[in-house]
Amino acid sequence: MLSFTPIQTTFAARVEGANLRSPLNDAQAADIESAMDRYGVLVFPGQHIDDEQQMDFGVRFGPIETTRATVDAQKHRLKHSAMNDISNLDEKGEILAADDRRRFFSLGNRLWHSDSSFKATPSKYSLLHARSIPPDGGETEFADMRAAWDALPATMQAQLRELVCDHSLIYSRAQLGFGEFTDAEKRQFAPVPQRLVRRHAGSGRLSIFLSAHIGEIHGMPKPEALMLIRDLMEHATQPRFVYSHRWEVGDLVMWDNRCTMHRGRAYDDKRYKRDMRRVTLSDVAPTLEQVV
Ligand code: OGA
Ligand code: MN
Repeated sequence: MLSFTPIQTTFAARVEGANLRSPLNDAQAADIESAMDRYGVLVFPGQHIDDEQQMDFGVRFGPIETTRATVDAQKHRLKHSAMNDISNLDEKGEILAADDRRRFFSLGNRLWHSDSSFKATPSKYSLLHARSIPPDGGETEFADMRAAWDALPATMQAQLRELVCDHSLIYSRAQLGFGEFTDAEKRQFAPVPQRLVRRHAGSGRLSIFLSAHIGEIHGMPKPEALMLIRDLMEHATQPRFVYSHRWEVGDLVMWDNRCTMHRGRAYDDKRYKRDMRRVTLSDVAPTLEQVV
């Protein structure tokens, strides 16, 4: 029997009774999916799984994204090309050189975002597994975007309802002053449109689809657009909407990118290895094609 214990009142839950080394049965998969619809973030502690087991678990909930959007993607440390390397390690497993552009690029994970919001069809779930962690820092924080929507005044909700934003990895990295993209990367990371307000399929609730990748709002002057996004970010990431996860080796955390944001927190990445691996599932369609 799986049990789900809420961490905040309505957001994030801890799952006991799961063993992700063996295949889930249909009832367990259905229980996990409905708990995801309710809580948005699930923490599975003590899962000492390998890459195959993590992929096998992920694929029960939807198709795995096959493309990794990163720089120097050909220098990949992990066996599966579809698995995202969220570590500070190079392809030999050593700590990245301090001036490696992959290190600068990966600092973008410390800005509040939703995974793959810069892809035409964004992501449904991400499943992040901790293989090694630093002694301090390196937490991951999650923000509840359905609660953030519910807490907005009705006048603000009405202003946001129909807005469409452009998302790109280039916009999030520009916030950190990282702009050295090759022409091929600029083409690969070209902006895509996404609704700002979406309806979460499994719960029927509305949520704000925010991400550091946003760089434009259609039909709005850029300074006004970016100021609005900044205000919404500040609103949505108030402590009352946020769960901070302090990692233990073997934790698997699964989140719904359709109704949450997350960010990594700082740690001494020049000194300690942090080996985290992510399986990412695709949503069904671009948000403009989804029903609101
Ligand atoms: C991710 C991510 C943050 C972290 O895996 O998608 O943004 O804490 N991770 O590593
Ligand atoms: Mn992420």
